[in-house]
Amino acid sequence: MKKIGVLTSGGDSPGMNPAIRAVVRKAIYHNLEVYGIYGGYSGLINGNIKKLELGSVGDIIHRGGTMLYTARCPEFKSKEGQQQGIEQLKSHGIEGLVVIGGDGSYRGAKALTEQGYPCVGVPGTIDNDIPGTEFTIGFDTALNTVIDAIDKIRDTATSHERTFVIEVMGRDAGDLALWAGLSGGAETILIPEENYDMDEIIERLKKGHERGKKHSIIVVAEGVTSGTEFGKKLQEATNFDTRVSVLGHIQRGGSPTAFDRVLAARLGARAVELLIEGKGGRAVGMEQNKIVDYDIIEALGRKHTLDMNLARLAQELSI
Ligand code: F6P
Repeated sequence: MKKIGVLTSGGDSPGMNPAIRAVVRKAIYHNLEVYGIYGGYSGLINGNIKKLELGSVGDIIHRGGTMLYTARCPEFKSKEGQQQGIEQLKSHGIEGLVVIGGDGSYRGAKALTEQGYPCVGVPGTIDNDIPGTEFTIGFDTALNTVIDAIDKIRDTATSHERTFVIEVMGRDAGDLALWAGLSGGAETILIPEENYDMDEIIERLKKGHERGKKHSIIVVAEGVTSGTEFGKKLQEATNFDTRVSVLGHIQRGGSPTAFDRVLAARLGARAVELLIEGKGGRAVGMEQNKIVDYDIIEALGRKHTLDMNLARLAQELSI
């Protein structure tokens, strides 16, 4: 393999830039040419492709977002869109592609793989919902952003003796909510992986109040319900002064943490090695601090699982 491409797709995540840097530098280290595909799969279809040099990825290691831009691209779900993409890659002489993104991006990479084009998936999403890796690039940074927000909200919650409902992202996965709730000391955490009992939550809040608790923090994963709706119900049922904070897209930006940068470096570099070894159709991940790779088609058939022991622990610690 002499020429490879790299693109980022789907929602941006902090750490995509260090992952691009790793792909580019590792490829050049091994005497490959690297091409950046700008604007995700849309950019691929439209041939928005430029050669990247060592300097192209200078001064990005600490930046959030993605220097290659990203998009959600419905056209790439069709065979025509995928064929156009493959033609663009071939016309530039690009023989393999690294795709950095979440599950939608993996589906694109899977489709290319099924059509015989070598692709390697690198998990980049704040949702931490990709099977085959304990952590996705961006999760740790987003988690720290959420904790920072919870800590700040806690000050107001205490000062005003209020109940706060904090809605966090994560799509259909509860990882961000659970990890943030556990590390932010939330009284209650609602995650899509588990049903919740409204009566039990109200009871717990009232008991805490009777015991003299000054405030309560409830973290709601967006995949469960709207924080605003939930807050309204809670206020009605308890009569406690309740406020809602929907953290939204601040969770997606910001300088990547050291953890995310190291993960990005390791996963990006391994993706390039796989292409050099002629192993397309793979996805990389980290399991027990080891970098692993697995079949991308099989990976998408698997389900991401949340460690429910953490949910039990969070419950025990929030009595
Ligand atoms: O997948 C990342 C994510 O931020 C999810 O947590 C969220 O549900 C979604 O993207 C929001 O997407 P958009 O930025 O397109 O509104």
